[in-house]
Amino acid sequence: MSSLTPPRSRLPPLTCPPPPVLSSAALFERAQRVIPGGVNSPVRSFRAVGGEPVYMVSGNGSRLVTVEGRELIDYCCSWGALFFGHARAEIVEAVAKAARNGTSFGANTAAEVEFAEQLTRLVPGLEMVRLVNSGTEAVMTAVRLARGFTGRPKILKFAGCYHGHADTVLVQAGSGLLTGGIAASGGVPPALASEVFVAPYNSLEAVSGLLQEHGDGLAAILVEPVAANMGVVCPTSGFLEGLRQAANRCGALLIFDEVITGFRFGPTTFGAMQGVTPDLVCLGKIIGGGLPLGAVGGRAEVMRFLAPLGPVYQAGTLSGNPLAVAAGLATLKLIEAERPYQRLEQLGERMAKGLQDAARDVGIPLICPRVGGMFTPFFLGERPSSLDEVKQADTERFATFFRGMLAEGVYLPPAQFEAGFISAAHSELDVEACIHAARTALAASKTLGSRET
Ligand SMILES: Cc1ncc(COP(=O)(O)O)c(C=O)c1O
Repeated sequence: MSSLTPPRSRLPPLTCPPPPVLSSAALFERAQRVIPGGVNSPVRSFRAVGGEPVYMVSGNGSRLVTVEGRELIDYCCSWGALFFGHARAEIVEAVAKAARNGTSFGANTAAEVEFAEQLTRLVPGLEMVRLVNSGTEAVMTAVRLARGFTGRPKILKFAGCYHGHADTVLVQAGSGLLTGGIAASGGVPPALASEVFVAPYNSLEAVSGLLQEHGDGLAAILVEPVAANMGVVCPTSGFLEGLRQAANRCGALLIFDEVITGFRFGPTTFGAMQGVTPDLVCLGKIIGGGLPLGAVGGRAEVMRFLAPLGPVYQAGTLSGNPLAVAAGLATLKLIEAERPYQRLEQLGERMAKGLQDAARDVGIPLICPRVGGMFTPFFLGERPSSLDEVKQADTERFATFFRGMLAEGVYLPPAQFEAGFISAAHSELDVEACIHAARTALAASKTLGSRET
């Protein structure tokens, strides 16, 4: 032993350093130094509602646990991806089992074939399907495919619908419907935006007008069959059928973006439940069981335009990833076994009524449109049917309400123009607790409001 080596007994004790004390505020401060805005997706910054964003450590069923150890009832549910709530055992087991066999092969697997077969069985009109990694990729692929198939450049979409963050869909209405859209984000070339037309949601009249002018150049009509990204706005009677007819009239494809709505109200798509079959469907969220997975599918004649069969290129290192596919298969299995839709309908109905009653009792205008367990409490007097109407909502009031709900232990999506989600893991008690919290938060916001004025 060298004389420089201290005798063993004099070495410092081998204790673990104490775990760092975490707080959301401290994490957000650190995050802002290394992540733009401190977040990996803008709405998580809480800019729409104020206050410090919350950091999570775990989730179980309907509950989230923050780094401070607070338990919250979660009505965001990873933006609707967690149909069975957090850490549902069958899904976790399926993912763990898949991971033990290898996390990615970049090659074909039996599971992806089974998954595609299941999807095509459950969704009428989905003759073929291609798996991707997100809803954004699904829509981006559908739009490219529609352009490739029709040989036309133009796209019609609807104000207030969100279709992910590919260039073509980050477009908002320009000065008039017939003049084409303008970029809704920096970095989207005006030339690209001008090929995209943006009509008011639920306006078949606007669609007809546009078709007269631009119908022969239209590749696709792209729509959320229930709009959920301006808050929940339902299609008016005949709107989806009208879009089907409009697409047929001008030879464009109809694309239903069912990234949110797919498998949410029944074991299939919303379009299928309404008896309206689009040419292409985009899926995501629920079908990935909380892992990154999306899908685009539809008529085989159109899908065969995708590489390697056809000229429209699309690819992905992690597409059909075995972990995501395992989570997706486990989710579809649970859906078929448990069919939680009727219960979600009841919970959703109770939630909407409870929130509306709570607001009415304190004299605050609030309307809560919903489909199944998907809902938005709008601070509005009337049920909205378009973005213009939605924009009348009192966003200040929502921000106060959101913070009040968080203080009461309820985590809502942190923006007025979003959808909340009741998962199959939520109980009647969870819903009652949310309504109870809303009574407190609304009463406090009322006091605050009267003090402010
Ligand atoms: C209707 C719709 N389409 C597409 C997307 C994009 O999906 P992703 O966030 O998985 O890219 C979203 C995301 O919220 C969505 O709601």
